[in-house]
Amino acid sequence: MIVAVGCDHAGFALKSAVREFFEGKAEVLDCGLTETPADYPDVAFAAAKAVSEGRAEIGVLMCGTGIGMSVAANKIKGIRAAACNDAESARLGKAHNNLNVICLGGRVVSPDQAKAILDVWLATSFEGGRHLARVNKIAAAESSTLSTGGEEGEEGRVVVFNHPLVQHKIGMIRDKNTSVKEFRELVQEIAGLMVYEITRNLSLSETSVETPVASTTAYTLAGKKLAVVPVLRAGLGMVDGILQIIPNAKVGHIGLYRNPETLDPVEYYCKLPQDIGERDVFVLDPMLATGGSAAAAISLVKERGGQKVSLVCLIAAPEGIKKVHAAHPEADIFIAALDSHLNDHGYIVPGLGDAGDRLFGTK
Ligand code: RB5
Repeated sequence: MIVAVGCDHAGFALKSAVREFFEGKAEVLDCGLTETPADYPDVAFAAAKAVSEGRAEIGVLMCGTGIGMSVAANKIKGIRAAACNDAESARLGKAHNNLNVICLGGRVVSPDQAKAILDVWLATSFEGGRHLARVNKIAAAESSTLSTGGEEGEEGRVVVFNHPLVQHKIGMIRDKNTSVKEFRELVQEIAGLMVYEITRNLSLSETSVETPVASTTAYTLAGKKLAVVPVLRAGLGMVDGILQIIPNAKVGHIGLYRNPETLDPVEYYCKLPQDIGERDVFVLDPMLATGGSAAAAISLVKERGGQKVSLVCLIAAPEGIKKVHAAHPEADIFIAALDSHLNDHGYIVPGLGDAGDRLFGTK
């Protein structure tokens, strides 16, 4: 484990204790500074960026109170930092808020107290469950363009699934040790579970039935036609799970490759149901990373007459959501989990790696 450590002059007294604490436990990435008076935001940003970009797993920041460091660190995407000058705050900060950066006050705690606080923080695990749902809301708010509500027909919604079953299975597909077979099955299962929410706005017509006991009003789907359109190749992994629940949906396919010079997505295959304009269309792509191919796929469906097009993904980065909504502000985006950010290679962090390779065992 790598821990990013930084302080200003007022936190400097704690720094050697913190370094000592991590000896044999973690590698320390020293983000400065010394006892020379300096501005805490500079070091807070350096350490928080190291965590946000995945160069360090966690961070420890020290100033006079821990407050300035936490305020500054929280400006960096994906950072959950707080001043914890007692062990109970550190425990709950990890258990409930999944703090990835802890801030300590050199004018508030002694070096020994700081070590005891770090001990508790490291020994505590995030509880997940309802706390994960809350932390996900913070992540969703981090991108100012993320909408979370909205009526049908208005601005497109971003719907993040916080259902425990979905979160449980997402945890399993993130695991790099999950086999190809299990990964494939789990992707189908998650896609199937997502159908309940993506079809929530289908209209019903009223009818009546005779039960063995009495006649009663019943409801039947009003005949709205559906289509699913996987983006090749990873989108294929979601199709069967969805068709198990809505077997009459038609299936289109879109293939895109990336122009090596412009990096723009270029169509190499597109076959859609002829009556695409009469159908609610769900474009399927497990990973919404930069959003380039998802936005292009939605454009292709719209160019061929698609009127109501939504995007269904397993894991999304805020950058991808932003790009898709910039191009298609009306499109609903359904995602099982919203992650922190993209790394320099365009991979979602923490993500699950390359969904296509993991589905088809090509790596
Ligand atoms: C520096 O004197 C002090 O203001 C700073 O270390 C920190 O406590 C700010 O929150």
